[in-house]
Amino acid sequence: DQRRQITETLAEFNLTKDQLLEVKKRMREEIENGLGRKTHDSATVKMWPTFVRSTPDGTENGDFLALDLGGTNFRVLLVKIRTGKRRTVEMHHKIYAIPLEVMQGTGEELFDHIVHCISDFLDYMGMKNTRLPLGFTFSFPCMQKSLDEGILVTWTKGFKATDCEGEDVVGLLREAIKRREEFDLDVVAIVNDTVGTMMTCAYEDPNCEVGLIAGTGSNACYMEEMKNIETVEGDEGRMCVNMEWGAFGDNGCLDDFRTEFDRTVDEYSLHPGKQRYEKMCSGMYLGEIVRNILINLTKRGFLFRGQISEALKTRGIFETKFLSQIESDRLALLQVRSVLQHLGLDSTCDDSIIVKEVCGVVALRGAQLCGAGMAAVVDKIRENRGLDHMDLTVGVDGTLYKLHPHFAENMQKTVKELAPKCNVNFLLSEDGSGKGAALITAVDCRLCSQEQ
Ligand code: BG6
Ligand code: GLC
Repeated sequence: DQRRQITETLAEFNLTKDQLLEVKKRMREEIENGLGRKTHDSATVKMWPTFVRSTPDGTENGDFLALDLGGTNFRVLLVKIRTGKRRTVEMHHKIYAIPLEVMQGTGEELFDHIVHCISDFLDYMGMKNTRLPLGFTFSFPCMQKSLDEGILVTWTKGFKATDCEGEDVVGLLREAIKRREEFDLDVVAIVNDTVGTMMTCAYEDPNCEVGLIAGTGSNACYMEEMKNIETVEGDEGRMCVNMEWGAFGDNGCLDDFRTEFDRTVDEYSLHPGKQRYEKMCSGMYLGEIVRNILINLTKRGFLFRGQISEALKTRGIFETKFLSQIESDRLALLQVRSVLQHLGLDSTCDDSIIVKEVCGVVALRGAQLCGAGMAAVVDKIRENRGLDHMDLTVGVDGTLYKLHPHFAENMQKTVKELAPKCNVNFLLSEDGSGKGAALITAVDCRLCSQEQ
């Protein structure tokens, strides 16, 4: 009977193919709303124009600085791109911590900290006196009117610094550089991580016209026809759109798929009511869903001898790396127990079996939902081009995709099932989105010098 009750609780997480097709269909509707001139303002999936009009062509050249803010790590990078017979990209980077007080303090503190890190990096590279062009990977929703202007619409994930929403992030960075009076930089481009990832991958594979992040957050971008982007002037060619699909469902359109656990995770999150799809399929939240299910099962006496420990009450304990370890097929149950032990959870053998099962259903649903979204995207691109069949490459990055033992495979399988007319090749980004930001910066610098 206990078994039956556990199975019943977890059954809500199993989605049928029809349900996933329904998710795909609704994503498609939201895509159209985001692109449409009259529907954009009230749309949840914003489909922000990025002013990136083409993928790299190999002629990019020069030395660039890049910042990469918004994922697990904050990085400052120097990217040296050389064109010619043998194209090369040489990268140097340093990872810097962003303390929680800074992520959730004032905007001025956050940007002063960023500039402090740039200063340290320039010292480290011995480049304080060279005025370099800079590409800023900033992985949050921005309303862009040009390549070098991005108004932060809302913080997402673990950030909540004051006085930034509604402001141009490039302006905030430039002001902080001025305040420091130590060095000069040309901020040329602000780039979402999905876009940086697409560009990084497209440098290797010109068929890559989609970027996907399955990491702390979840999001995608792709090359859309200008004539379909009604929120920007012009009908010629294509432009990359940052979908901000994490907000899918914020109008309630996914409510019939959300469980009580999804609602609890949302309610206690830093940004309640926002990013509802992201909260069902990204690394920052999958562990929280698991933890809430475990609390429920413990309260009902099915786990941990009915005792809710302090550890289990701790928000965020199930980080992506732990979920990944628990689900790793190479780990025997005894090792699952030692992972739980490490998290401060004393488990019996039976407990560990249940915990592993819970992790499994939550991650599988996350991968399938992400796959359903991607299926909508690739079919849209295929229809744009009027093709019955299409081969395309999706550039992917993110800790969930890279570390989890089953996420990538389950996501890909779902895309195959839901978009059978597309043959999608998933290309893992090896160098992060900073490289892509540098490539975008390189193209813009060339265009500017040609105009002069
Ligand atoms: C990295 C990018 O490669 O992928 C980051 O350079 C991005 O900017 C990240 O945010 C996504 O992964 P995660 O798991 O660190 O959020
Ligand atoms: C969040 C951000 C988005 C980013 C994604 C992945 O959804 O809003 O801009 O691309 O996380 O990092």
